[in-house]
Amino acid sequence: MHLTAEEEAILNGEEGETKQQLLEILVGVGKVFGAEEMVPIRSAQVSGASYKTIGEWGLKWLASLDAHAAVPAVLNPVGMDRIRWEEMGIDPGFAKKQLEVISAYERLGIRLECTCTPYYLNITEYGDHLAWSESSAVSYANSVIGARTNREGGPSALAAAIIGKTPKYGLHLVENRKPGIHIQVEGEPKGADASWYGALGYLAGKISGNRIPLFSGIRPGRDHLKNLGAAMAATGAVALYHVQGITPEARVFSYSTEGLEQFVINADEVASLFTGEQVDAVAIGCPHCSPDELIYLASLLEGCSVTKPVYIFAARDVIERESEQIRRIERSGARVYADTCMVVSPALERYDRIMVNSGKALSYVPTMCGAGAVIGSTEDCIRVACTPE
Ligand code: F3S
Repeated sequence: MHLTAEEEAILNGEEGETKQQLLEILVGVGKVFGAEEMVPIRSAQVSGASYKTIGEWGLKWLASLDAHAAVPAVLNPVGMDRIRWEEMGIDPGFAKKQLEVISAYERLGIRLECTCTPYYLNITEYGDHLAWSESSAVSYANSVIGARTNREGGPSALAAAIIGKTPKYGLHLVENRKPGIHIQVEGEPKGADASWYGALGYLAGKISGNRIPLFSGIRPGRDHLKNLGAAMAATGAVALYHVQGITPEARVFSYSTEGLEQFVINADEVASLFTGEQVDAVAIGCPHCSPDELIYLASLLEGCSVTKPVYIFAARDVIERESEQIRRIERSGARVYADTCMVVSPALERYDRIMVNSGKALSYVPTMCGAGAVIGSTEDCIRVACTPE
């Protein structure tokens, strides 16, 4: 692996022990995956932020580091809303440890935005190299924006944030971004909402595994693509996909389906996931809600009083920008939390069955929260939440 004189100096400890240790991680990863050099990144997104996942050892390691991020960097969702954690019913002992983890990251210059939608906060453009770690964010960056990132682990994303570079291999190279299979979708319903694309992604991820699918037969919008990619990253290991005529690289390279192994998913298979079972709570915002999704939720909740707990998750910055919509939503009794989500927070472990509008949550809630999950459209979720008991 070719290193610049500046990188060699860091490896020799000339800029301190922390940078030396973190660059060693990046060079080690680069060598394993055959990278020839490092590439500067525009931003980083660092996972390993919930005390539920990193525990005491992770906290001690973070506290031992002494450096400052070289590029804009945010955190993945943590185990609670940093401000409203008591209202979420979080144990004070857990909250204390979680706040220690957050301050350790703050000391390292990581912005205290804890979100899986960093693309709503940091400018991210076609062709940018990034070091992001949350799977749905990685999928969105690669597929919807046309930026380039591998799915980083927590330590390598943090190392990239501090050094400002990442090893150039995998999805950083154009030749590795071509489609590997073709998924033909039949019967896309007119006006289908994001949950339908999440359910499609739930099925498509199982087919794709770690291959790069090229879709035909669908015309999704941006929030639809967000849900599609998040679900495929959960039921498969899809970090990049293309949609003919829609996603940027499919348009730039005019990928053809010729020669690709073909699979068909029809609308009946997608519809069969919507079972309409009874639930005792509703959770929306996996991935975190966009401003448009908050506006839509506010309109659906207008004049309603929820009879079941409704949790909605979004990035703090988005919540602050959309304060009027948040007031409209919370008038109904629903709650909008920042910094966390239905999967990484222990708050939703108390329910038996939760309705979600996300294919990723449909896959993760049963394993990570120990609750059953039912997928419904956003409208179904709100109707169920507002039905008198
Ligand atoms: Fe984001 Fe949590 Fe879903 S990190 S994608 S809201 S599981």
